[in-house]
Amino acid sequence: MKLVVTGGAGFIGSCFVRLALRERWAEQVINLDKLTYAGNLENVTEVSDHPGYSFVQADICDEDAVNRLFATESPDAVIHFAAESHVDRSIHSPDPVIRTNVNGTFTLLEAARRHRVPRFIHVSTDEVYGSVDPPHEADEGYPLHTSSPYSASKAGSDLLALSYHTTYKLNVSVTRASNNYGPFQFPEKLIPLMISNALEDKPLPVYGDGQQVRDWLYVEDHCRAVFAVLEKGALGEIYNIGGNCSLPNIEVVRRILKATGKPESLITRVADRPGHDRRYALTNAKLTRQTGWHPRVNFDTGLMNTIEWYRRNQEWVRRIKTGEYRHFYELNYTNRARELA
Ligand code: NAD
Ligand code: DAU
Repeated sequence: MKLVVTGGAGFIGSCFVRLALRERWAEQVINLDKLTYAGNLENVTEVSDHPGYSFVQADICDEDAVNRLFATESPDAVIHFAAESHVDRSIHSPDPVIRTNVNGTFTLLEAARRHRVPRFIHVSTDEVYGSVDPPHEADEGYPLHTSSPYSASKAGSDLLALSYHTTYKLNVSVTRASNNYGPFQFPEKLIPLMISNALEDKPLPVYGDGQQVRDWLYVEDHCRAVFAVLEKGALGEIYNIGGNCSLPNIEVVRRILKATGKPESLITRVADRPGHDRRYALTNAKLTRQTGWHPRVNFDTGLMNTIEWYRRNQEWVRRIKTGEYRHFYELNYTNRARELA
């Protein structure tokens, strides 16, 4: 099988690329990535010399580049991870989020239709269901209720992808995963931010009361689920992917401090995220029933692996936490503690 993986230099896409070649899910993997602030070719060093791996630097909104690639390579499937993925950035500047997540997905779908790509997996998120009140869990038919420009853009692109199945019979499936964590995650997201700040003895900024609940999914489990959908998923269907591990943010932060041997005094309460969803919760039942997939890595093990990885890869973190990162950090956090007071 020959796969085009979009966003293969990012956190989850790079894990998929590494696993796809390591576990021989595919003979050839073409990584299509623009290399935005979140794209990092160091994430795919493991496969850079693999004969089945190639890299194309392009924007998924670039019609010519995408069409050229699909025409010359005739891939068997497109696995579409590329996105602007950070909720806080989408609140500060929605522009690139709408462009990449909506227009970029549209460009890929059109090119896949034109070049008759046999299979298209659109990777999405549980954020499209919005906050889910306890004790409910969202299944794939749960109403969409988006709060941020990011989640709205993902919901829009999900619907667009599904419309290409209904209208043009493009063989699309949509996956909706919960919060991922693991090695190589950009340190703007909760777990890598808290681990890297703790290791540097810096404050750990917790939004609002810290009682917001997320369901944590180890990144390799997510990638295995996406592959299960590629292999066995039904066309035109949506599949939820959750980690069966719901925790309030403050509990996650406390576990990180305990595991790194750092004091709880590093926790700094800061102003809440505007439109912050209180609780994400979803059921995996459909995916497990239809493909046999279930999460393999429990949170304690996954968190230990992740902390160990960040401990051993402080140079990787240091290279990221330079100019652009510092600018965003100031924008997002500088006045936040004061706003709360
Ligand atoms: P990430 O931000 O780590 O990586 C995104 C990648 O996409 C980067 O390599 C970036 O360079 C690339 N990219 C961005 N814009 C592009 C463009 N216009 N053209 C080509 N490449 C572009 O993101 P991630 O956390 O790995 O998320 C991957 C996908 O999974 C996204 O679609 C996201 O919505 C979805 N998802 C993420 C999570 C999570 O917890 N991180 C959970 C569920 C779903
Ligand atoms: O649910 C899936 C989604 O998970 C993905 O679609 C997104 O791409 C991914 O970024 C993630 O979104 P979240 O907004 O849930 O993730 P984030 O890591 O930004 O935040 C997790 C929780 O932690 C959320 O309730 C906000 C809180 N938080 C986050 C940061 C960065 C803090 O309290 N402090 C922080 O500094």
